[in-house]
Amino acid sequence: MMKKIAITALSVLALSGTVALAAEGEQHIEDVAFSFEGPFGTFDEFQLQRGLQVYTEVCAACHGLKYVPIRTLADEGGPALPEDQVRAYAEQFTVTDEETGEDRPGKPTDHFPVSALENAPDLSLVAKSRAGFHGPYGTGLNQFFRGMGGPEYIVSILTGYTGEEKEEAGTTYWENTAFPGGWIAMPPPLSDDLVTYQDGHEADVHHMSVDVAAFLMWAAEPKMMARQHAGFVGVFMLTLLAVLLYLTNKRLWAPHKGKKLV
Ligand code: HEC
Repeated sequence: MMKKIAITALSVLALSGTVALAAEGEQHIEDVAFSFEGPFGTFDEFQLQRGLQVYTEVCAACHGLKYVPIRTLADEGGPALPEDQVRAYAEQFTVTDEETGEDRPGKPTDHFPVSALENAPDLSLVAKSRAGFHGPYGTGLNQFFRGMGGPEYIVSILTGYTGEEKEEAGTTYWENTAFPGGWIAMPPPLSDDLVTYQDGHEADVHHMSVDVAAFLMWAAEPKMMARQHAGFVGVFMLTLLAVLLYLTNKRLWAPHKGKKLV
């Protein structure tokens, strides 16, 4: 009897699993092993520099990064650009000075510009505001093991074009296996060797996508590493405290339990 119930329960679980998987299958998200994952992960400075190059040469034509101060490009643990390069980077932008109301070249203390194309969303926080991983069974447990999947979502969008396109009410949509709904109004932005990396790294669509996704993750959470490390130290200290308390407790009670102290 018990056995039968257990088997029924198992098959119901398996069935709902299949249904959940099928539902998730509509959105295809590739799992990428980024250097910044896990408690000891760090951003790869050179990858961030390549990602910045892709963003600057390709994505910036439409997308802004208005919450990101340009000076942070010099940050250790981030792209770590030399100060003079950061200054040169800022100077390519024309900014209207808030005090004088006049146009001047950008400074490192300015932020990246806003989106150049009205319907292109700002990318400052997109790596944190999109979840690539869900499930299983809508529990979100996958996110616990694999992370939220924001950067993976970006990689999957950039590599997820099928080549199909359609017109609807005067707008062109491209079929995309990662975008919710399956059709995106962003033309495929990348093609192999669109960018020539200064470090000679391979520049096919996949590499560029991973690099720019890493850059956008850093942009959204530049202090991620510090946070992860602090969390790890915290857990370590609490574990140590728990062990010490256990041993103290044992020692205090030992005489009453008739055991001899060592
Ligand atoms: C020609 C303009 C253009 C370029 C270039 C472009 N995008 Fe887009 N992008 C758009 C538009 C428009 C949308 C909104 C699409 C929609 O809502 O259907 C979009 C949407 C996105 C989204 C989805 C955001 C969401 O809501 O989930 C991401 C991520 C993205 N772009 C990243 C990039 C990256 C990274 C690059 C550079 C490699 C890039 N885009 C280049 C126009 C562009």
